[in-house]
Amino acid sequence: MKKDICRISGAPLTRVVDFGKQPLGNGFLQPAQFADEYFFPMVVGFSEESMMFQLIEQPAPEKMFHDHYAFYSSTSSFMARHFKDFADQVVQSGYLAKQDPYVVELGCNDGIMLKNFAEQKIRHLGIEPSLNVAKEANKHGVRTRSEFFTESLAETIVSEDGQADAFLAANVMCHIPDIVGVVKGIRKLLKPTGVVMFEDPYLGDVVAKTSYDQIYDEHVFLFSALSIQYLFGQQGMELIDVLPQKTHGGSMRYVLAHRGAYPVKESVTRLLAKERAQGLDRLATFDTFRANVEDSREKLVALLKKLKAEGMRVAGYGATSKSTTILNYCGIGPDLIDYISDTTPIKQGKRTPGMHIPVVPYETFKGNPPDYAVLFAWNHAEEIMAKEKEFMAAGGKWIVHVPEVKVL
Ligand code: TYD
Repeated sequence: MKKDICRISGAPLTRVVDFGKQPLGNGFLQPAQFADEYFFPMVVGFSEESMMFQLIEQPAPEKMFHDHYAFYSSTSSFMARHFKDFADQVVQSGYLAKQDPYVVELGCNDGIMLKNFAEQKIRHLGIEPSLNVAKEANKHGVRTRSEFFTESLAETIVSEDGQADAFLAANVMCHIPDIVGVVKGIRKLLKPTGVVMFEDPYLGDVVAKTSYDQIYDEHVFLFSALSIQYLFGQQGMELIDVLPQKTHGGSMRYVLAHRGAYPVKESVTRLLAKERAQGLDRLATFDTFRANVEDSREKLVALLKKLKAEGMRVAGYGATSKSTTILNYCGIGPDLIDYISDTTPIKQGKRTPGMHIPVVPYETFKGNPPDYAVLFAWNHAEEIMAKEKEFMAAGGKWIVHVPEVKVL
């Protein structure tokens, strides 16, 4: 049997959780496409050398990020505000050159963050391989290149635009299997005083909350400060700051620079120590995680079966990529959940990947609310709870599975 190898260190990977056959997290489809639906074996592995939690196999990037990619960042007002704040923090960070700073964002999607730079006439570039969302960014005055970021693209950008002051990414770095190539590109692209600021769902939260739905085809990695320090350390860079974020149910923003360029903030030392205490450097932690994932599955399925037996109408709220892992891993289909409501037009009228639950417009939920709604978009709980007071006042109940399965 072929050995599983860590993408960062080349050391052997140990398989820690097997989620079985999974479709693409964002692969919403029509019934006519069921016969050709793509599945892959979703298993996660861990290497104590790099401390990187990663998928063993991942579909080719072209299968996931293409000209009909169903994910648009600007679907949530909270996220729009979050990225405006992120942009403001970059501008005010003191890391940008005073004269003509240049900011590059990897995976700028529909321009939700870069439009804030465009509005301030700050020189910028968004690198976005999915052409449909890149075109949306252009409408907001955002300059884009629709390509995958590599070391050679970094060289091209430097020769055309010069080096960058800041390299930004949000919910993108964890998608890239050749992350080592990307970090090599970043090193070339950044000025000696340049900084990298990126954020992704945080492994520490996933382990603490058993939020295993963060694991799906696109998330080839779930990062910790320990694994990021290892990855960038190999290329002569280092963490200088870390900033926990509420987004995606718990994210971490990492700030990195060329080694020695800036003092390392105490936040970094503190988080590295906290992660060691949590066991994010050890295989044994993931045995416990696996047991927690199995327990979560048993409880969710038992609850949905019980409600169905009682004649309750159960729907889903938010056709997230994350929910694809839950539905397929737990074997939850239209027999247990009638439909999932979602505000994204491109998902509506389609079926969920693998389990084929109908995705309906939000108006369907609003017009005829179910007895129970599974909060698949739990990462937006605050925004949704504020919006759905009527549903709750009329006796509607929420089912959440994070940090444990329960009815709210
Ligand atoms: P997202 O949080 O991006 O999760 P993922 O990365 O797992 O796909 O997706 C949220 C989804 O929920 C998106 O399809 C829009 C939908 N949604 C609603 O339908 N109503 C809402 O009020 C909110 C906030 C989101």
